[in-house]
Amino acid sequence: MNATDLAVELRSVRRTYRRGPEPVVGLDEVSVGFPFGTFTAVMGPSGSGKSTLLRSAAGLEAIDAGEVRVDGTVLGGLRDKALTVLRRERIGFVFQSFNLLPALTAAQNVALPARLAGRRTAPSEVTAALSAVGLADRAGHRPGELSGGQQQRVAIARALLTRPAVLLADEPTGALDSRSGREVLALLRDAADDPGRAVVMVTHDPVAASYADRVLFLRDGRLAGTLERPTAEQVAARMTALEAAGAAGADEADEADEAAGAVAC
Ligand SMILES: Nc1ncnc2c1ncn2[C@@H]1O[C@H](COP(=O)(O)OP(=O)(O)OP(=O)(O)O)[C@@H](O)[C@H]1O
Ligand SMILES: [Mg+2]
Repeated sequence: MNATDLAVELRSVRRTYRRGPEPVVGLDEVSVGFPFGTFTAVMGPSGSGKSTLLRSAAGLEAIDAGEVRVDGTVLGGLRDKALTVLRRERIGFVFQSFNLLPALTAAQNVALPARLAGRRTAPSEVTAALSAVGLADRAGHRPGELSGGQQQRVAIARALLTRPAVLLADEPTGALDSRSGREVLALLRDAADDPGRAVVMVTHDPVAASYADRVLFLRDGRLAGTLERPTAEQVAARMTALEAAGAAGADEADEADEAAGAVAC
């Protein structure tokens, strides 16, 4: 695949945390590309590096080695200010806990990042962003007056306002009931169908992962396989194999991978 087709690319990225007595591996030589117009789910046991991968893609991690490119720009080559601008303009982030400001209305929350960036946002832009997530009639409501699913939809509208090249979502449905979760997943699916964007979502839920074009599996900070056009059943089976492999130890892990038909990446 041509590098210009990639919204985000990680090349041999390593991230080690050195605060405690023993270094902890967050990511270990991870290389992966996220093409424009695609939706990728990232799965793996707790502590396997999923959030570290997402934060690295957003330029929020000080990586030890390797390279991260967003829309062709190498993040490591940027000064702080340029990185901040690129993050604001080209990268959207959605969290499990919504992260809306409680004192601001839905419309003010959506407009806030652009305002902080010193950019004036036309009210019609904000209205369009809220309409796109089905919340035009809730523009004046504060987060406390919205359901969890509605708050997450406001967070998605906020993340998409600048039309970013990549939307990164860390367990965006983790705090939602299944119906609200499905609404959020449908929005992420739509966002990924834009040829100018890639969506990358961390999830623990095989059904959520089945909305993606591809699932990437991590174990111990390393890529441990991919599934294209996944079904929830295939994803669940692969996760069971990964977790069993983790429990059985590293050597047997490779055999379990083979048994599960894992594709090396
Ligand atoms: N700030 C940090 N300081 C020290 N170690 C960290 C830090 N952040 C993550 N780690 C470690 O890096 C490894 C990967 O963590 P990460 O948060 O990426 O896992 P995860 O796959 O997102 O897990 P979960 O499913 O529980 O959210 C873990 O061993 C974790 O303890
Ligand atoms: Mg995590």
